[in-house]
Amino acid sequence: MKTKIVVTGGTGYIGSHTAVELQNAGYEVIIVDNLSNSNADVIRGIEKITGIRPAFEQVDCRDKEGLTGVFKKYSGIQGIIHFAASKAVGESVQKPLLYYRNNIVSLLNLLELMPEFQVNGIVFSSSCTVYGQPDHLPVDETAPILPASSPYGNTKQIDEEIIRDVIHAGAPYKSIILRYFNPIGAHPSAEIGELPNGIPQNLVPFLTQTAAGIRKELSVFGDDYNTPDGSCIRDYINVVDLAKAHVIAVERMLKRQSETQLEYFNLGTGKGVSVLELIHGFEKATGVKVPHTIVGRREGDIEQIWADPRYANEVLGWKAVETLDDTLRSAWKWQLKLK
Ligand code: NAD
Ligand code: WQD
Repeated sequence: MKTKIVVTGGTGYIGSHTAVELQNAGYEVIIVDNLSNSNADVIRGIEKITGIRPAFEQVDCRDKEGLTGVFKKYSGIQGIIHFAASKAVGESVQKPLLYYRNNIVSLLNLLELMPEFQVNGIVFSSSCTVYGQPDHLPVDETAPILPASSPYGNTKQIDEEIIRDVIHAGAPYKSIILRYFNPIGAHPSAEIGELPNGIPQNLVPFLTQTAAGIRKELSVFGDDYNTPDGSCIRDYINVVDLAKAHVIAVERMLKRQSETQLEYFNLGTGKGVSVLELIHGFEKATGVKVPHTIVGRREGDIEQIWADPRYANEVLGWKAVETLDDTLRSAWKWQLKLK
């Protein structure tokens, strides 16, 4: 019998790519999503890639009764990967209560239900945003957690603390907290990818929409940072590489390969890339020009961050392998499909 994994937020960007990799690895996937930032067509994309249609329940993770129904219907669920959350930094400043309720109540419901249904572990989607602007780069998992600069970032910190406290209190399950750097790109088949809602806030979807002529030009937020070319530096990680790390984390958690109940891993490439390098890299990889102009800094942006992924490399045996060129080409292929 296949091991059953609930993937909350499984029709979303990272969740859908993870559902594919889980199914490829032989897991039975049950997607729980309220479709607040995705649509049910994604299920078809997952099925096209893997030949398997994952189970899908349109349930809101804030709804504890709804979640209970899912655990009853699919008995024997062994693990959860919890992607479901609201993730727009700017919106979280405008609507903090929406973010606190969605991102915290959803986690509380799952953690409360896990012992009742003997679920053995939960993988949690966290973010490099918890490090703020680190003093030392690359940043590893022991770096201090700095005060969050947005309600969104704060929900990730609070969620990490909640998990830490329940594990400390003797919860009968394990947890792995994954801190993603900047996920970009799409499945190479272009059957699934990122579906930005409205005007994209993130660099790569804005860039591909500009390349496609949907947006006039890309604004580069600042070229006066203390970096080699003056633009900000991030660690851009291919979404399929990222998805594969989840499969390894689930396996580690369920097979009890770790000695501790709670572990943290940075998921990044270990390489910092500036905004201007990314734009020029895209132009070179695709042959498509991206009209862009330098504007002022964006409020709240940190100057530079990239991961020290060695702990994940050594302990999980996982490494980001896709090249930036291939990743940018996959983002472009997906954009062309969307168009
Ligand atoms: P996404 O918006 O594409 O996916 C999230 C999914 O969760 C969506 O399908 C949405 O409909 C669903 N959802 C939201 N609230 C829900 C609820 N209450 N009940 C059920 N479903 C709900 O986002 P993503 O980029 O795939 O991000 C997945 C996770 O990774 C999030 O927790 C996010 O905070 C985290 N993360 C994302 C990034 C990034 O840059 N994309 C970086 C670091 C961390
Ligand atoms: C990347 C770089 C911008 C758009 C955010 C969240 C973080 C995490 C990932 C979830 C920055 C520059 C961007 C544009 C630009 N999400 N940029 N023009 O800000 O690193 O991280 O997404 O956890 O929490 O804060 O990603 O893609 O928005 O920006 O110049 O139109 O691109 O200034 O340097 P960011 P991003």
